[in-house]
Amino acid sequence: MQKKNILLAVSGGIAAYKAAELTRLLKKQGYAVRVVMTESATRFVTPLTFQALTGHPVHHQLLDVDEENAMGHINLARWAEHLLIAPATANIIAKMSHGLADDLLTTLYLAAECPVSIAPAMNQAMWGKSVTQQNIRSLMECGVQILGPEAGDQACGESGMGRMLEPEKICNILSSSENAALKGKRILISAGPTREAIDPVRFISNRSSGKMGYALAEAAVKLGATVTLVSGPVNLMPLTGVGLVNVESAEQMYNAIAPNAHEYDIYIGAAAVADYRPAEVVQQKIKKQLMQSNIPLTQNKDIIAAVAELPNRPFVVGFAAETDDLEQYARHKMRNKKLDMIAANWVGREQGGFDSDVNALKVFWQGGDETLAMMDKPLLAERLLELIAKRMHEKNTA
Ligand SMILES: Cc1cc2nc3c(=O)[nH]c(=O)nc-3n(C[C@H](O)[C@H](O)[C@H](O)COP(=O)(O)O)c2cc1C
Repeated sequence: MQKKNILLAVSGGIAAYKAAELTRLLKKQGYAVRVVMTESATRFVTPLTFQALTGHPVHHQLLDVDEENAMGHINLARWAEHLLIAPATANIIAKMSHGLADDLLTTLYLAAECPVSIAPAMNQAMWGKSVTQQNIRSLMECGVQILGPEAGDQACGESGMGRMLEPEKICNILSSSENAALKGKRILISAGPTREAIDPVRFISNRSSGKMGYALAEAAVKLGATVTLVSGPVNLMPLTGVGLVNVESAEQMYNAIAPNAHEYDIYIGAAAVADYRPAEVVQQKIKKQLMQSNIPLTQNKDIIAAVAELPNRPFVVGFAAETDDLEQYARHKMRNKKLDMIAANWVGREQGGFDSDVNALKVFWQGGDETLAMMDKPLLAERLLELIAKRMHEKNTA
């Protein structure tokens, strides 16, 4: 079967040389490939390389009469069934996220109506800059799929997050996400515990490790989704291809989720959000002698219930961790909070639950349930997401 038309856009980073191998692999997988380059990219690798690999002229100028005659930028945008920008420089990411159109690539991005993926590649400090992270988040909110980057040694001699994914990995993600269960879906996931400050050194928290939420985020990317993960404090590495928003308290988590949830197709509340916080946060460390045995508490806002109340609500999936009467509590929580689905698990048993690498779930929805047996959390996450995709499809087509 003829695969898609891929428009590969190369921007001006040191990883531009990897785009030649990427072109070769995409062609080998059966994609029709055309290449465009930024002016900077042509200083790293010559257009002739890509012309020889694709058998087609390589465009790199917007205001060039010959290039516009050969295949104008609008026609190129129409031809593309997928726009892949690899490598994507910090500069291109910034321009795209602000809607600039001052060169061929950014104009093509605005003109293209097909799915867009980018493989960022840059020095680790450039990647870590908050402005770059904001730009990435805003592209994700526009539905752009972010492939990588990954951590490792960098051309500049430093080491850290910012290396472009290897061409083979990019190819595999593209081709597996074509038939994936969550292809094109936008998913918002919460993970980990929250911390509710008592004073500058003490807090109330819980035993959630975040492993289930992180496994869900990773599996969702594998199944073709664009994922934003809102994470409480955990000891886990950031995930490749997942937009990460770090928060600490339940209030911060609420503010990161509730106003944005309507932009997503699915919301999965896997975080263990504290129900209560100290009514007052004392600004100086409380001396041991003055510590009270009762700390007055105030109730936190219910994040998942707020998402489920939205007029344009996503498909809402909750979690319940129970020590007894699992089904009764889980179904009650689902009805009470108007969830579409709830994944319940036993805690305090020998296997599974908080901080464990394995878990089992019993998943409930109105009129049905399914048991997912004890298995590694990454595999369990994939099974749960497949079930969510199936139920969401049934709900939308009912
Ligand atoms: C040797 C060299 C390597 C560079 N590598 C990168 C890189 O890996 N990622 C990046 O974002 N910018 C990198 N830059 C900076 C970009 O080339 C610069 O921001 C340029 O304006 C990008 O243009 P473009 O986004 O239109 O392709 C590099 C610059 C030089 C001189």
